[in-house]
Amino acid sequence: MKKIIKSLLLFAAMPIFAQQGGMWVPSLLKGMNESEMKSLGMKMSVSDIYDVNKSSMKDAVPQFNGGCTSEVISPKGLLLTNHHCGYGQIQSHSTVENDYLTHGFWAKSLEEELPNEDLYVTFIVSIHDVTTDVLKDTESLTEEATKKAKIQSNINDLQKSFAREEWQSVMIRTFFEGNQYMLFVTETFEDVRLVGTPPSSIGKFGSDTDNWVWPRHTGDFMLFRIYADKNNRPAKYSADNVPYAPKHYFPISLSGVEQDDFTMVFGYPGRTQEYLPSYAIEQILNDLNPAKIEIRDKALKATDAYMRADHAIKIQYASKYASTANYWKKWIGESQGLQKSNALEVKRAFEKDFTDRVIANKKEKEYGHLLAEFKVLYEQIAPFALARDYFQEIVLRNNELLSIGFRLYQLENAYAKGGEQSFVERRTQLLNQLKGLYKDYNKNVDKDVFEQLITLYGTKAPKELTPSNIHNVNYADLTYEIYAKTALTSFEGVEKMLSGTGGDAISKLNKDTGYMIAKLLAKNYFEKIAPNYDELQLKIGALQREYMKAQLELFPEARIFPDANSTLRVTYGKVNGYNPSDAVSYNYVTYLEGVMEKYVPGDYEFDVPEKLIELYNNKDFGEYADVNGKLPVNFIGTNHTTGGNSGSPVFDAHGNLIGLNFDRVWEGTMSDIYYDPAICRNIMVDARYILFVIDKYAGAKHLIDEMKIVYPKGKGKK
Ligand code: ARG
Ligand code: GLU
Repeated sequence: MKKIIKSLLLFAAMPIFAQQGGMWVPSLLKGMNESEMKSLGMKMSVSDIYDVNKSSMKDAVPQFNGGCTSEVISPKGLLLTNHHCGYGQIQSHSTVENDYLTHGFWAKSLEEELPNEDLYVTFIVSIHDVTTDVLKDTESLTEEATKKAKIQSNINDLQKSFAREEWQSVMIRTFFEGNQYMLFVTETFEDVRLVGTPPSSIGKFGSDTDNWVWPRHTGDFMLFRIYADKNNRPAKYSADNVPYAPKHYFPISLSGVEQDDFTMVFGYPGRTQEYLPSYAIEQILNDLNPAKIEIRDKALKATDAYMRADHAIKIQYASKYASTANYWKKWIGESQGLQKSNALEVKRAFEKDFTDRVIANKKEKEYGHLLAEFKVLYEQIAPFALARDYFQEIVLRNNELLSIGFRLYQLENAYAKGGEQSFVERRTQLLNQLKGLYKDYNKNVDKDVFEQLITLYGTKAPKELTPSNIHNVNYADLTYEIYAKTALTSFEGVEKMLSGTGGDAISKLNKDTGYMIAKLLAKNYFEKIAPNYDELQLKIGALQREYMKAQLELFPEARIFPDANSTLRVTYGKVNGYNPSDAVSYNYVTYLEGVMEKYVPGDYEFDVPEKLIELYNNKDFGEYADVNGKLPVNFIGTNHTTGGNSGSPVFDAHGNLIGLNFDRVWEGTMSDIYYDPAICRNIMVDARYILFVIDKYAGAKHLIDEMKIVYPKGKGKK
């Protein structure tokens, strides 16, 4: 008996048993989720959230540009998302003379709205469980690679045959690590125009210092508009397109939030790994995160020095820098959070319990081998996983000479395989991409970054898995040699090298110092690292599928949700502060006062625009102030979110929009691996701050007039 109680107590500490957390599939909320949501205060029914037969909330929540989330907030297709989600678009419309990053931008009419090449939003039309079809004729296949291939071919068949309208697409994703498959019918709109953005001193206030941090004071929002053809269907950009008339759009409430209020977040969380064995977490904690953090740390410091000294470089590198800094900081918080919450101990205790349940249920034959095999496989994969992260971070991500060199290496391979014709096709594509890339390229920045990173690669990555040419050399000399001679540091240089026949181009390439080093590292990766990693990962994936199946079977009482996979999910919780450490407690809301407390005139992170100071001094908050007369800026809650939830709408109990998700708190960033309801919080912009900035700061009242505002009881439109 004692043992049972002890194990129950342990479960209470497990993420999957906590009464909060989880990212749920919107079409499957009936039952457990609905009753939890109602007990937390929700006043809607789950068919208001997702319904295939009538318009429902899901019809107003498109994925934004494949990564973030956005929501429709007017009958004319006005779209709200985060400033950091549309940052690249603002940057590409910005120049030193017309710097929208610094000053903001507000279209005064439809005609002034700015089109964006390559930007798209994708709506979910319907969700279907297709597990039986996808797993058809795979049960008997024992070889993992064969099984995977058969599954893929079933997916391809379904993708072709599933009924849809001609402008719709079909996408299939796995849930529960291969135990369930869902099909999504989608509609993608490609004419999405920039409508308005606050200056970075509001939209990115606090920048990287405040990123992932509570208390927070960022107005991280901006507005786009979806355009459709005359039949309200998706269409490529055309001057003739008209504002999209949505099936549904969200009313915005001015009532604000109080402690313990119900909140719900709807969006596209990218990736979580809540069901990893302890061995995997150990590896992340001890090997992978520290290596990746160190690499980015060096790259960021080198870049930052140039950005501070030169405004043109600052604009060129703004977007890249922010995105590199983002996960750098997240991994630091994640590692600390895993440590602080004893995630490893909790996992190990769970594994002990798992083993007990396997035995109690007489399932040793099916599941008894899983944990022991995980242990062996994670030991085997360790050096390959580390070498792979070094390669990805250094060659593919953080040094441009190497990442351009890598793409040229793919071009050489295309030539070797497909001859002149595929060379020519690929060259055209590549030159197109590179043109954009070199617009934001600076040789000196890149060279400094290279020297830092090649040093790490040569000295810290597993020696047996990296080429000996980069061991024990003078890295400054090596860098000098390469950058003095390579033609890869300008678009014209690459263009010239690629001119002529495929044969000519390849032979010129192979004499280029920049290309040679990139090729050396790429070849090494494909020969020594990738094949071993992939083979082991295939085995781990198969085990993980069985492990997931076992957990679903042996813990029927558990709240097990599928890991995030960039599909539409619902998460819910309540407004709540937290205690990050002994004697420290954080309130759930911040006010404009806090912006002024952080204000550092002229600072690149904490400057405040004059107009905002003026509004603050005059307490000119219009109808957007809280009952206490203060202007709310951000608030936090227990909603379980992750990357991809940026720009997600936040709702009150009635389905009115009350905020915009944009971040998580530092102490809780380990929630991708282990959700601890005590310290995991998501950070949201208060809807009233958004409306205040649009109306009072920007004077864009015409946009507010498009929206449906819900006034607190007793107050109304004046
Ligand atoms: N941490 C948030 C998210 O993961 C915001 C990132 C953008 N802001 C920044 N300062 N880099 O994406
Ligand atoms: N800022 C993140 C994003 O871009 C959301 C924050 C998080 O990871 O929770 O999706």
